[in-house]
Amino acid sequence: MAEKSIPLVDHRYAASTPLVPAEPLPAGALLSDRRGRELHDLRISVTDRCNFRCAYCMPREVFDKNYRFLPHDSLLSFEEITRLARIFVDHGVRKIRLTGGEPLLRKNLEVLVGMLAGLRTPDGAPLDLTLTTNASLLARKAQALKDAGLQRVTVSLDALDDAVFRRMNDADFPVAEVLEGIAAAERVGLGPIKVNMVVKRGTNDHEILPMARHFRGSPVVLRFIEYMDVGASNGWRMDEVLPSAEVLARIHAEHPLVALSPSQPGETAERWAYADGSGEIGLISSVTQAFCSDCNRARLSTEGKLFLCLFANRGHDLRALLRGAYSDRQIAGAVGLIWSGRDDRYSELRTAEAAAERTADGAGKRVEMHYIGG
Ligand code: GTP
Ligand code: 5AD
Ligand code: SF4
Ligand code: SF4
Repeated sequence: MAEKSIPLVDHRYAASTPLVPAEPLPAGALLSDRRGRELHDLRISVTDRCNFRCAYCMPREVFDKNYRFLPHDSLLSFEEITRLARIFVDHGVRKIRLTGGEPLLRKNLEVLVGMLAGLRTPDGAPLDLTLTTNASLLARKAQALKDAGLQRVTVSLDALDDAVFRRMNDADFPVAEVLEGIAAAERVGLGPIKVNMVVKRGTNDHEILPMARHFRGSPVVLRFIEYMDVGASNGWRMDEVLPSAEVLARIHAEHPLVALSPSQPGETAERWAYADGSGEIGLISSVTQAFCSDCNRARLSTEGKLFLCLFANRGHDLRALLRGAYSDRQIAGAVGLIWSGRDDRYSELRTAEAAAERTADGAGKRVEMHYIGG
């Protein structure tokens, strides 16, 4: 085994150079962490930029014209991303989600999609390849993404009312164009389409029912997300969280719902179906009902740092290995070592005490969502 990890000073988040074990990981070995959770999902951020300024993610006062986004040469290239993805797929990853920032702002993204769509699991199966987008560019890009091999998309939309939505995206972007993006994705077959709505009490909770009514009876799965204390910029307050139980009660009172069983272990959303057969909704309740116990997700930042939790305050610099003289087997060994040491379960521990410890440990500030993706 190699020596100790070396902490690197990064201009924004702390990262360690991973250890490269002397013994490579056996080909195809699955990765299991300290809580027995097997790595299954890889979420890859392809840009830290976004053309929206949602207050819960990239508040305009922080992400203003003076904010320094990552310089171009620090980004992983498509070849580097694909090389890493291949290594992860060889060791159990079955789902890849491209995120941002806004991933469609990354130039020629469909080229990367094509490269990732060519990957196969050790059994020869294609991946579940998907993308999270604010849909501002989706109508224009849906066909090219589909042609490149993307399977489905998830669209963020926080309100149906135009004034509320323009206020929330803080970029004066209209609802109609997002709906056009969704329609284009449906037309080209990028489904099943999911729509994610972050619910903030007092900001858009009055939009829960209009959103439910709009997507009921369509194949789109609308998912309500509890506003989270992710990052360090959004000024999160518990009193702005509307518990999913309340979302459920409001919809159920108008349209009765029945619980569905999970479609996959480790899923973020609890699934509910309209009792009259007119579709499905999801509840993502990371604040009131943490789902860390079977969390199987790893996140790769735009410049190649691996984060083991959405609330982590340090990453593992895989780019250093990619740009060093390491073989795929060695990098796989390093990833195996990182995952096997994973103990994260932030949402389960979300207490004032945990928050205080996190800021007190001096390891750097908590990672922002626009940087590692939702
Ligand atoms: P599907 O395969 O389509 O079900 O995707 P998913 O639910 O795994 O991913 P998606 O990006 O749609 O996740 C929706 C939202 O759930 C994110 O935007 C986050 O708000 C939240 N979320 C996703 N993964 C995690 C996680 O690991 N921890 C926490 N706390 N929240 C998460
Ligand atoms: N709380 C919950 N979800 C968030 N997202 C970003 N910031 C937050 C937050 N503070 C998620 C949303 C959005 C996606 C891009 O990231 O789901 O749709
Ligand atoms: Fe952009 Fe999505 Fe963050 Fe909004 S939530 S600022 S659309 S990355
Ligand atoms: Fe996974 Fe961390 Fe989210 Fe828990 S808080 S579900 S460990 S990413």
